[in-house]
Amino acid sequence: MSAKKVIAVVGATGAQGGGLVRAILNDKTAEFAARAITRDASSPKAKELAKLGAEVVAADVDDVGSLTRAFAGAYGAFCVTFFWAHFSPEKEMAEAANMAEAAKQAGVKHVIWSTLEDTRKWIALSDNRMPTLQGKYKVPHYDGKGEANKIFLAKGVPTTLLNTSFYWDNFIYFGAGPKPGPDGVLALTLPMGDKPLPGIAAEDIGKCALGIFKAKGEYIGKSVGIAGEHLTGAQLAAGLTRALGREVRYNDVPPEVYRSFGFPGADDMGNMFQFKRDFNSAYVGARSLELSRRLNPELQTFDAWLQKNKSKIPLE
Ligand SMILES: NC(=O)c1ccc[n+]([C@@H]2O[C@H](COP(=O)([O-])OP(=O)(O)OC[C@H]3O[C@@H](n4cnc5c(N)ncnc54)[C@H](OP(=O)(O)O)[C@@H]3O)[C@@H](O)[C@H]2O)c1
Repeated sequence: MSAKKVIAVVGATGAQGGGLVRAILNDKTAEFAARAITRDASSPKAKELAKLGAEVVAADVDDVGSLTRAFAGAYGAFCVTFFWAHFSPEKEMAEAANMAEAAKQAGVKHVIWSTLEDTRKWIALSDNRMPTLQGKYKVPHYDGKGEANKIFLAKGVPTTLLNTSFYWDNFIYFGAGPKPGPDGVLALTLPMGDKPLPGIAAEDIGKCALGIFKAKGEYIGKSVGIAGEHLTGAQLAAGLTRALGREVRYNDVPPEVYRSFGFPGADDMGNMFQFKRDFNSAYVGARSLELSRRLNPELQTFDAWLQKNKSKIPLE
């Protein structure tokens, strides 16, 4: 039997959870063991994690019984929901409640809940600067997570609320990267005006989470905000230009134009960027670069991330 403390990781085959599993397995102090939670232990990604040394356990965030079994005996649990799989804040809240209940039943000592702001604390539903979406949200994929914070707290689960940031990986996988304009010049389209956007290498979220678990309870009951850098659209475009060796312009559009782009969730994303632009000092101020680097000394800058990932950014 291993004497290592087990961290059960939801979303282990994905960006945030995968980063944490790899961080645990690569940690030279070997303080923790990684329990990778997946719906399908026989998938190639799950098998890859098993090969790296993770214990792979099947569970579904929609099934509290499966989560309770998967959390059994664990010291810690990393909890995350998957908004873009269903676009429903209510479902995210129900899934958060399942994870909080499972953590309570299993007696988990430290939960990290990967959350985001409930933007309605800054912008009331009656405020017409941005449309209300799905009847009662301003930024659905933020508000449900933020509202779910209180579920963990109400159940008395020892929790750290981890406020994450925009993944730079969205330039690869989410269609948010630079695209050629009518003149053929690449343009990075973001409705951020001249305000900085907290961003992070997705892989660094898990590394920061490991730093939180290693801090022996210091962050239980606290909110921690993380980012790799706070860069304006112009600075992001300049970084892309340097890395790609090809001009990338910042195309600053109004949020209402972004909302009209028509891809699924464009209205939610447009509201999100507007929230980050219009409440910029609060949003940026909640994500300390210094603390992020203390938790994760390998924290990447945008330039460092680009050097590793620029060839994966689709440009046409
Ligand atoms: N993109 C960004 O910039 C950004 C920034 C901050 C926060 N976020 C938030 O991050 C969350 C997604 O995290 P991520 O990017 O790490 O996800 P991801 O890379 O899309 O990974 C999702 C993983 O979750 C697992 N999963 C999906 N549904 C599940 C279920 N019902 N039960 C158990 N596991 C399930 C899947 O694993 P299996 O198939 O193996 O089960 C999948 O590999 C979203 O809620 C999003 O709002 C995103």
